[in-house]
This record gives sequence, C-alpha cells and structure tokens, in this order.
Amino acid sequence: MRTLAFLVSSILAYTAMAAVSAFSSGTLWTDTDGNRINAHGGGIMYHNGTYYWYGECKGELTYRSPGVGWEAYRTETGGVTCYSSQDLYNWKYEGVVLEPDTVNTYSDIHPTMVIERPKVVYNEATGKFVMWMHIDSPNYSKASAGVAVSDSPTGKFTYIESVHPNGQIARDLTVYKDDDGKAYLIYSSEGNATMQISQLTPDYLKTVGTYTRNFIDKSREAPAIFKRNGKYYIVSSGCTGWSPNEAEYAVADCVTGPYTTLGNPCTGPDADKTFFGQSTFVLPVEGMHDTFIMMFDRWNKRDLIDSRYLWLPIQFNETGFTVPWVDNWSLNNNLVNNK
Ligand code: GAL
Repeated sequence: MRTLAFLVSSILAYTAMAAVSAFSSGTLWTDTDGNRINAHGGGIMYHNGTYYWYGECKGELTYRSPGVGWEAYRTETGGVTCYSSQDLYNWKYEGVVLEPDTVNTYSDIHPTMVIERPKVVYNEATGKFVMWMHIDSPNYSKASAGVAVSDSPTGKFTYIESVHPNGQIARDLTVYKDDDGKAYLIYSSEGNATMQISQLTPDYLKTVGTYTRNFIDKSREAPAIFKRNGKYYIVSSGCTGWSPNEAEYAVADCVTGPYTTLGNPCTGPDADKTFFGQSTFVLPVEGMHDTFIMMFDRWNKRDLIDSRYLWLPIQFNETGFTVPWVDNWSLNNNLVNNK
C-alpha cells in the first residue's frame, strides 16, 4: 500500500514538473511549481531574453457584486501576478508584482476593487517598467485607467494613480509600444461604445491630452494590437460581459487610426463565439519570422479563477489573417492535431 501511495505521489509530482512543449488551449495550464497559472486578461513583455506574463490575480471565491443588475461576477482582486519564461510554454511564478492595498479601504487597489487587463511596457529613456490597467469600483462605475511603475520587471510595482484619460472614461484597455519608442493607450470609452487611442507622454505615465475615436458606437472592447509589415491590427470583442461573442479585427496604416474593419479572424468550431474566449493580447515571438500568438481568455464566470487561456497561431493571407482553432500546437511544428 505504501509503495502504491509512493508511486502515485511520484507520478503526480512528475506530472506537475514535466516540461510543457506545446500550447493546449483550454486545458489547465500550470506553472513550473505545478500550480494553476493565475494571470487573466494578461499581457506579455519581452525583456533581455525573457518573457514576462502579467495578469489579473483572481481570488478563490467568485461572487456577484451586490446591487448590480447585470451579471457582475467577480472575485476580490489579488493584484497583478507575473510569470517568466524563456520558451513560452514553461512559466515560473514570480509572485504578485502589484500588491493590493489591504489597509486603505478607499484605495483604487483595495481587494474590493476591480483590477483588470494589466499591460506592462519598458521605457528605455527612464529605465522604468510601466504598467497600465483597468481600475474600477465593484459596480464598474469608476471606469478608470490606473498606472504603476517599477525598476524591475518582477516588481514590486508602485501604484501611482487612476485617471480618466483626457477626461474620458476608460474600461477594457491595452498599451502599445511602437518601434520608435512612442507608446499608446487604447481603451474602451464613451460608455464602452467607442474605442479611444491616445499617445502617452515620453515617460509613459500620462496621456498627452488628445485622442482619436475608433469603431464609433460599435461597442468594441478587449483590444489586442500588433504591427506587421508597417500595418497595425486590432483584434477586439463585442460587449457582452464575461459571455463570449464574435471577435473582429481591423487594420490601419497609423497606430491611432483610422481603422478599417476586416471581419472575424477566427476559423473552425465555435469561431462565431471566439472559441468561447475573449481577446487580450497578441504576442510577437522573438527571433521567429512572422510569428504571432493570439491570446484569449476563456472566462468561467461562476469560478473566475478557473478561467482558461487560449493561445492560438495567427496565419496570414493576402487580405489579412485568420486565427484557426488548434487543439495542440508548438512554435516548431505549428498546427499539429488540427481538429
Ligand atoms: C468584459 C471585459 C472583462 C470584464 C468583464 C466584466 O466585457 O472584457 O475584462 O470587465 O466584462 O463583466
């Protein structure tokens, strides 16, 4: 009996430690300690040979925000986590790099508040790592963008403030740093109806005061942006809370637009529901020609911490690109086990 127990525990330990060598969308993804990766609505920064994955740290208990009519499922916020990797499959837990403020009940980052979609960029001029995130009140009425800063990619980040960028409300957001070092905040605004894009100041800590209006009255959110061959692409979702809807992508010659909508890039089963996912980030793979990973969250609204990650390949064609569903794939053998 003792031998059997030993065998079982050895197998479990081995399974937890076994190196990952493929992306298996929707399955439980564990870190190098064997714990579930808790980095939702995430974004990835590549710095000095290492990828850093930042995301929302969801709490164990999912509940509905009291007094809110719509399905405002949430957890206490645990701040922002960070995981590091050299190969994009195996992720080492680096800890909570932006910690919630458990003392000041009025703080933007108190556990009762909402911290979503954190994105980090490195500012070469100041040598600082700058994090932007969606900050909200439990009923999502604060609708602000928060900013934090750190000297190291693994924190700790110091929270600075939340703002209504250029006097406008902000919910789902992302940050884009262009090749020329200029950075931009892209955020759902105007009651989530219109997506605004604003350049950041040279230190990346504020918006410059002007913005463009994109996808006007189209209610697009969950923006994920990347650049390829001089063109900028934004993938976004519709506006249905944690429930999936159809993704859409658009192209522009300039990061601030105007954007031309090209349709739903997803192909395969449940493509009209974004494979039950929602966009969060597009990752250019370092050192691999034309290789980009489309990252989605598959929200589990009744148990948010158990939301899964869908990382899928982007395949380019003459008019744009597609994001095909693939059960299992790796950067070397791209598209194995296609359904
Ligand atoms: C989604 C949004 C998520 C989260 C959720 C709350 O529309 O993309 O980041 O805010 O609503 O219901």
